[in-house]
Amino acid sequence: MSEQKRGMHGIWTGRWTFILAATGSAVGLGNLWKFPYITGENGGGAFVLVYLACILLAGIPVMLAEAMMGRKKRMSPINAMKELTTEAGSPSFFRSIGWMGALSGFFILSFYSVIAGWALVYVGKLASGAMAGITADASGAAFGAMLADPAGLTIWHTVFMFLTGVVIARGVNKGLESALNILMPILFVLMLILFGYSLTTPGFMQGFHFLFDFDFSKLTTESIVVALGHSFFTLSLGMGAIMAYGAYMPAKQSLGKTIMWVGFLDTLVALVAGMIIFAIVFSNGLEPSSGPGLMFVSLPIAFGTMPGGIFFGTVFFILVSIAALSSAISIAEPAVAWAVEKGFTRVKATMVICSVAWLIGLGTVLSFNEWAEYKLFGKTFFDSLDFVTSNVMLPLGGLLIAIFVGWFMSSDMIKNELKMKNDTLFAVWRFVLRFISPVAIALIFINGLGLL
Ligand code: TRP
Repeated sequence: MSEQKRGMHGIWTGRWTFILAATGSAVGLGNLWKFPYITGENGGGAFVLVYLACILLAGIPVMLAEAMMGRKKRMSPINAMKELTTEAGSPSFFRSIGWMGALSGFFILSFYSVIAGWALVYVGKLASGAMAGITADASGAAFGAMLADPAGLTIWHTVFMFLTGVVIARGVNKGLESALNILMPILFVLMLILFGYSLTTPGFMQGFHFLFDFDFSKLTTESIVVALGHSFFTLSLGMGAIMAYGAYMPAKQSLGKTIMWVGFLDTLVALVAGMIIFAIVFSNGLEPSSGPGLMFVSLPIAFGTMPGGIFFGTVFFILVSIAALSSAISIAEPAVAWAVEKGFTRVKATMVICSVAWLIGLGTVLSFNEWAEYKLFGKTFFDSLDFVTSNVMLPLGGLLIAIFVGWFMSSDMIKNELKMKNDTLFAVWRFVLRFISPVAIALIFINGLGLL
């Protein structure tokens, strides 16, 4: 039975496909939309430094662990965890890594699709020329008007969820690989163009200082929790997405190097996005702490004034939508792969899973208008869902993964799969995974629970 499941979903065809797919998963709204706005809300530099430390000390080590577990078992995280826990003789609650991950996936996908819907709206806004020469005030007002319209938000949420479903249903090779090969390079080029533009704006240096001057007096417990949570969110960790993608990775490829690349590219995109957005924010007198609207309000101002801005702006939001799409599919993949192993067709599995996530997403749609006043612990539906997934569920998943791989899987099991030639590097990674990552996550986590 389980031998039938192994490898049933397909294998990435090219050497580079895993890097592409994992980078496609990692680079998304988290980098372009969320990173700049939470950096703005948490005061800038010191937050960025903590975020970078979390990427290095928890994110990358856990990412390697996840990909390794996935490739070793070649099945959905839920079933992979069943076998891994049995083989390692570990307590069976480590299986919750699989279950909890799939559950986090539903929650994350639900709001991710709503925000990606905003990007779709902005494709139209830019293409129509409505943003040409727009002022900061008008840009803010346009964003506000979009949020105030639940029907519009629902339509674009639906469109995005549908697109996600189509790609997932087509499967690993046909659905994803081909698109990513072309789109990811274009995204990088466009970001370079925007970066070039941001260098010419008067606020560039102010934005740069905001991002990179470390003022620790601005650091609160909440911002440390948010930095950790975001390092998991942005690398797609703690819920099995990378485990699922690792399961489709060719056996020969070196995992360590690959993961370093993914971590590097993801961080690079986030920092560049931050520099671009804060340059525009400070050049136009916008508030860095203005929240989820930051990217949507600031970038149209840039596109509205730069030469060829209508064209670049349209292309940019198309790419944001695509970056979101390549991430969204990875959020659903653990649950879909599991349902397929259960005997559902891929199409049915996709339909059920996307519909449930879509339904939960309506809560996020309403939290920006009709339900804006309903708050739980001071947070709207969307804020609560975002907080609980990023800052509780993902770190908890990461913690369990670090403990499981660090303490329960034998070195031989791991070494076989990693094919890491450098013993020192292996030892360093294992040490970090055993001692540093779990302690760091646990400390931050316990502090974070106090915030609930
Ligand atoms: N990493 C993506 C981003 O930054 C989002 C994402 C994709 C994700 N897969 C995930 C987040 C799995 C958490 C878990 O936009």
